[in-house]
Amino acid sequence: MKKEDIKELLSKMTLEEKIGQLTQIRTSYYYNSNTSATGTASKLKITKDQKWMIGTVLGKLDAEMMSKIQKEYLSNNRFGIPLLFMQDIIHGFKTIFPIPLALSCSWDEELIEKTARVAAKEGSSSGYQVTFSPMVDVVRDPRWGRVIESFGEDTLLNSLFGAAMVRGYQNNDLKNPDTLISCVKHFAAYGAAEGGRDYNTVDISECRLRNEYFPPYYEAIKAGAKLIMSSFNVLNGIPATANTWLLRKILREEWKYEGVVISDWGGVKELIPHGTAENSIDAAKLSLKAGIDIEMATTAYFEALPKLCKDKNIEKLLDDAVERVLLLKNECGLFEDPYRGISSEKEKQTLLCGDFRKIAREASCKSMVLLKNSKVLPLSENKNIALIGPYANNPSILGPWSLDGDINDVITIEQGLRNKNINLQSVETTSFNEISREKVDEIIEKTQSADIIVLALGEEEEKSGEAGSVSNITLPPAQIKLLSYMKKLNKPIIVILINGRPLDLTNIIEEADAVLECWFPGTEGGNAIADILYGAYNPSGRLTMSFPRAVGQIPVYYNSLATGRPKELLKIEKRYKSQYLDIPNEPLFPFGYGLGYSQFKYDNFKISKNELSRKEKISCSIDVTNNGKYTGIETVQLYMRDKVADISRPVKQLIKYKQIIINPSETKTVEFTVNEKDLRYWNGENQYKSDEGLFEFTIGKDSSDGISFEVRLVS
Ligand code: NOJ
Repeated sequence: MKKEDIKELLSKMTLEEKIGQLTQIRTSYYYNSNTSATGTASKLKITKDQKWMIGTVLGKLDAEMMSKIQKEYLSNNRFGIPLLFMQDIIHGFKTIFPIPLALSCSWDEELIEKTARVAAKEGSSSGYQVTFSPMVDVVRDPRWGRVIESFGEDTLLNSLFGAAMVRGYQNNDLKNPDTLISCVKHFAAYGAAEGGRDYNTVDISECRLRNEYFPPYYEAIKAGAKLIMSSFNVLNGIPATANTWLLRKILREEWKYEGVVISDWGGVKELIPHGTAENSIDAAKLSLKAGIDIEMATTAYFEALPKLCKDKNIEKLLDDAVERVLLLKNECGLFEDPYRGISSEKEKQTLLCGDFRKIAREASCKSMVLLKNSKVLPLSENKNIALIGPYANNPSILGPWSLDGDINDVITIEQGLRNKNINLQSVETTSFNEISREKVDEIIEKTQSADIIVLALGEEEEKSGEAGSVSNITLPPAQIKLLSYMKKLNKPIIVILINGRPLDLTNIIEEADAVLECWFPGTEGGNAIADILYGAYNPSGRLTMSFPRAVGQIPVYYNSLATGRPKELLKIEKRYKSQYLDIPNEPLFPFGYGLGYSQFKYDNFKISKNELSRKEKISCSIDVTNNGKYTGIETVQLYMRDKVADISRPVKQLIKYKQIIINPSETKTVEFTVNEKDLRYWNGENQYKSDEGLFEFTIGKDSSDGISFEVRLVS
């Protein structure tokens, strides 16, 4: 449809029809007669006629259902405006990839884009047009269950990987039916909930918003995301859903965003418990005025807008919002083909097809992070293995946000190991939270002849994800106990961790000989774990979120702001400096950390010059040599510190990195260039600028390591 035709269509629509376009309800409303009477939907006040005016739906679907619903809908909608189908397709659709936090540990943009591409092919074949992904909320509190959906604590990585996902979903060609419209979320700073408690207050300065939290949303928009979701939290005391500064000033005026803004689930009516709206009428008015186009899951717009639109200014806001929704539908070719060419046949041929499993296996391998290895890995095939623990043969390793994944498609850890044709002893599983003395005796008995013990431990899926906040981030006591019992057998112990957040591993790290963080690894998880244990894949994952030593250290992240009393500088002072009296300041495992089976040596550092002018660039390089026996991927990281700025700046900030594949005994030179733009920040006085003076750069393997050098920015 042409833009003029959309305008004409808009001019013919009644007020009620327009409000319908701005209302999103569950898909099940169209196929399950009970839906209207259950859950949140029971509060929906939608008449039979309004049902055929609704603009978008969210929820589970397949190709057959979509065709049926769309057909019935079109025959009832006065203008034949198609319904738009949305879903949370977060890290794969049927082929489930590792959780986003895990994917980010691959530091592999191309791979992440590829996973989103596969998700788009599969999801669109089942009838969806929109995915509520990526989530690019910067996260620094592992108590928050939704860290699983983020790309970690760093701004640059969230920006790069979020944009990669948008490209993968949309493929620059939304008219092509194998794409999905990407909805970036949750705008803004949802990841900064106080105490890591979901839906809780956020209080954050504009400096930190602009320098640390905003860039990933902006980059996702620049990459083409056509939809953005507002967050549940407040900013400056005003819920994002009603935050005019956020949604109009920043998003529309400054960033020139032209796409659609959708509230999060129930966000509009939640203005009432937030205490910023008295009733639904108020809530609808505040939200529309602030810039919410689509109201998700509640119907305040239907209740309020007929009256409110007597005000011409409000009617104009409504018209603009409806036009944007119609344009979105047009963007993905829905007016030309409301079914986007789907069929059950095509769906069958697409789901879990071709090389999708191969990509999933690669993604799982690249996402896992080897945290410890006291020369026990990789294993040789002739050793007898005892595999024990709640995840030994448990298919629930897809992660809590894999709505359309099927555990029957999963390769469990046991299956993965068996695929290697090794000598695997009878597997004993235990529950997550309990272990009896009898059970331990039984396990010990069956472990007698094993050479090596592989303990598959972790958190249950429902311990993370939305509403999955916890105050304790250690493994359950029963699992820690199991490890100490096994330790008494004097056999090497490899701990495999399946979980969705950085854990406090202080209780287990000393006892285990090797620890592999596998996250929720997805459909091919078991095969990937076996690949790593047996050296078919040399682990290359690097942490994107620090692992604290204790809950009391949270938030602990590498790019914190400088303080006036830095512990590392005040060496003689014993007390009056920024420190904990009982534990070190540093996390147990820092951002960027990860081991492999090769040893990479960094030397021969070179820099083109120590002065940088605003028009030039400088380059620096380092030689990396693989001194091990395995070919491996090394992630060379470049950090920057602005030593004197208008505001306090991070003690370190990742500005570039490069991944290289190096063969045994091979040396490769890695070069970075830096220019003045790389040094800019928002200075609190509405300027994005850089400072003349000293900068410290560090090239290293992780955020706690490296070779540092100073550069002076001159005019
Ligand atoms: C609530 C979540 O916060 C959001 O991320 C999700 O996309 C919506 N529900 C829809 O399911």
